[in-house]
Amino acid sequence: MQNPIKNFIGKFVSNLLKKKNPDEFLEQSAKGGLKKTLNAFDLIILGISAIIGAGIFVMIGSAVIGTTERVGAGPALVISIAIVAVACVFPALCYAEFASMIPVSGSAYIYTFATMGEFAAWMMGWVLMLEYAIGTIAVASSWTGYLIKLFQGFPFLPEIMKNPPIWLTNDYQTALLTTTDSAIPHFLGIPICLNLPAMFIITVIACILLKGMQESANFAKIMVFVKVAVIGLFIVVGACYVRPENWTPFAPFGVKGILMGAFAIFYAYIGFDAISTAAEETKDPQKNLPIGLIGSLLICSIIYAMVTFVLTGMMPMGQIDLAAPIAVAMSFVGQDWFAGAISIGALAGLTSVLLVLQYGTSRILYAMARDGFLPPVMKKIHPKFQTPWFITIGSTILMLLGSLFINMQVAAELAIFGTFTSFVIVCIGILILRKTEPDRPRPFKVPCCPWFPIIGIVFCSGLMFVALREVKTSAFLFPLWIVIGIAIYFLYGYQNNRKNEKLKLQMVEETTTEEVTNK
Ligand code: ALA
Repeated sequence: MQNPIKNFIGKFVSNLLKKKNPDEFLEQSAKGGLKKTLNAFDLIILGISAIIGAGIFVMIGSAVIGTTERVGAGPALVISIAIVAVACVFPALCYAEFASMIPVSGSAYIYTFATMGEFAAWMMGWVLMLEYAIGTIAVASSWTGYLIKLFQGFPFLPEIMKNPPIWLTNDYQTALLTTTDSAIPHFLGIPICLNLPAMFIITVIACILLKGMQESANFAKIMVFVKVAVIGLFIVVGACYVRPENWTPFAPFGVKGILMGAFAIFYAYIGFDAISTAAEETKDPQKNLPIGLIGSLLICSIIYAMVTFVLTGMMPMGQIDLAAPIAVAMSFVGQDWFAGAISIGALAGLTSVLLVLQYGTSRILYAMARDGFLPPVMKKIHPKFQTPWFITIGSTILMLLGSLFINMQVAAELAIFGTFTSFVIVCIGILILRKTEPDRPRPFKVPCCPWFPIIGIVFCSGLMFVALREVKTSAFLFPLWIVIGIAIYFLYGYQNNRKNEKLKLQMVEETTTEEVTNK
């Protein structure tokens, strides 16, 4: 007699590990109907859109000088940037191999489904929400800061715009750092803190994304042009004020400082993998995806290294500002006029990052809905714009709610942990698929496999473990996020996916019966 408990456990485990054949995804996407409009140039723009933002306009300050929880790299941040660029190149190559092999919407989530099965795929989708949705909240909070800075440059604007109340521009935690609970209005005992500018920009971007991908790519091109022009100007003007003595001591906190600087500046690289989420909307993805991924990564790394050299050479390390390091560096050398231009460039940069992160959020959730992890209504495509409108609106509402509670620094660190985790899993996925499906056509192949994916795993997980010991709040929230993800999977995702499978089976049976009857 068969043991029912053993049977149940066996079935349960096989469900958790159930993989989806890459061909199924390709078939599904062929039916799905997202428009193919993007070329290699569009993808590089998408990459630069995602990469250059709060990382270079805000986080570079704390990466150089540190925070209360972690030390900084000092001028040696250029070494940190090189470390992060290397840490990213290997996962980027793995993304390129996957994306050219399975060019469908959904990115690392899909790759995990194809290599490690259902449970790992759900967890990957959940972790990617840290990078994309929580990352959106972090960037939108920085957007508020630069908007107020810009308004302050116009003396004729009303006072409320130049110095808005704390509770209208922050989450509760951040507001409490500068004021008391009693100074914040309460409704039914609940403190009311609305980061209005952040909520505004998240909503505007969602509307652009609803309209269509080509419109979004055109908008991104303008934003990229503005931010790159402003950064280029900073490098050229700032270089005239560099004093080499500011580069000594080069690494004031030694190796630990360089590694913590790498952790912090990693934020600046978040989002480049979003290029792979656009695979389904890319023409000739086999060729264009690797160019887009590696091209944008290299261009941005060079820009970051130049900005770091100039910034750390312009002023003594102790005087670098945490909130607006680049603008303050210009004021330091007497170029006040430049601070306004920096704010415009920063706003453009942050807006384009938001565009990519919100785009990624909706496309990953759309892919999860298609697989039955989310209610079926979530996979609705707009008949006219051909965009996943329901999931775009739903995820926007959740991000708006999140912006009420989550602090910018914590959101940024959580996004970094989420990104590291997804990079490590994608590298592992390449190793698995090379073993399980060695003959599958690979239009692009990671060179020197298995070494390149292994180096990617070592760099990314190494940096993550070093950081986990230093950053207290996010090091607690990250595992909590994972536990919540596991709970949601077992309480909802697992059951719903089984129901979905039964439905599909019924449909196949009905079609077969119909065919037999017709014959
Ligand atoms: N890479 C993005 C930025 O720096 C998240 O804003």
